[in-house]
Amino acid sequence: MIAACREQVTLLGIGSYAPERVMTNDELASMVDTNDEWIAQRTGIRERRIAGPTESSAGLGAAAARLAVESAGIDPTEIDTIVCATASPDYYFPATASLIGERIGAGDVAGYDLSAACTGFIYALGQAYAQLAAGFADTALVVGTEVFSRLLDWNDRSTCVLFGDGAGAVVLRRDGTRGMLGFDLGSDGSGGSLLSVAAAGHNEVNPEGPYVQMNGPEVYKFATRVVVESAERCLEVAGLTVDDVDVFVPHQANKRIIDHAAKRLGLDESKVFTNVERYGNTSAASIPICLDEAWREGRIRRGDRVLMVGFGGGLAWGSCVMEWTKEQP
Ligand code: UT7
Repeated sequence: MIAACREQVTLLGIGSYAPERVMTNDELASMVDTNDEWIAQRTGIRERRIAGPTESSAGLGAAAARLAVESAGIDPTEIDTIVCATASPDYYFPATASLIGERIGAGDVAGYDLSAACTGFIYALGQAYAQLAAGFADTALVVGTEVFSRLLDWNDRSTCVLFGDGAGAVVLRRDGTRGMLGFDLGSDGSGGSLLSVAAAGHNEVNPEGPYVQMNGPEVYKFATRVVVESAERCLEVAGLTVDDVDVFVPHQANKRIIDHAAKRLGLDESKVFTNVERYGNTSAASIPICLDEAWREGRIRRGDRVLMVGFGGGLAWGSCVMEWTKEQP
């Protein structure tokens, strides 16, 4: 699905939050047969955040959402709809979006969760954009929040070193300023078994689960191909070229995938934002956490064209290009 954005939807606010507890590669090496050198060389990850026993996707998401609402300078009751991307919700239902809405004081609000794994935030942006562009809502909250630490087999070194917990959120509003420019969204279920977490009721299939199961090398091949293809389609539909991109914010799964994609796209290293070294792969939360850090650090400025690309379980992919309309904090 490829779409140019004809209506005007802009980013009004942004925030992110991660648990305080830091788990380093050395700590992991005391738990499974791994080491800092292997993890850092193969993935770029040095440490990740891990939720405490009372933290959850709803709690992390609400903390990020509060900061996004505050930075938007709006009252939470102005939010009409909440789209929450998560693969690690607190419940099958109620939706994490509803719990977040209640915690931030959004009042009566439309809200639902969306499952597209590591591409979830881009899908959620697309859904919120479409609701705003169609006139269903004037103001939307989009949240990406994950507690993957609860979906990991901590005895499996091939997966437990890769993921972390965190949340990011944005407030979008339909107004006269140009913001979202284009989307490319897709998925291919034939690769579903390459990266999965079985549902809890499927424990006969996954007696030890539900845990993340991944064929790393196959997903790596998929990712290096799809990031480039999706980014190129997204730019084309928005009438842009790679030279128009000021900041590239890819999903943070692996620094090698990011470097490879940036090189293939012809993007200078200075335009690429990464923080995988400090968070690991936070799935649907990784892109909004990056956007928030990049904006707060002055790496993204008003007028910049920002290209985001997500990829992962599905196998799914998604890109969004936008013009950043928010002033510096
Ligand atoms: O957001 C979701 C999208 N996910 C991704 O994008 C992940 C894509 N895949 C990857 O990033 C990489 O495939 C990994 C980082 C997961 C793995 O790197 P790799 O270079 O593909 O390694 P591999 O799976 O081919 O394993 C190489 C070796 C194996 O040992 P042998 O068979 O060569 O003796 C593994 O057993 O590395 C071993 N290994 C480890 N060694 C130390 C696997 N995990 C570890 C570990 N520590 N944690």
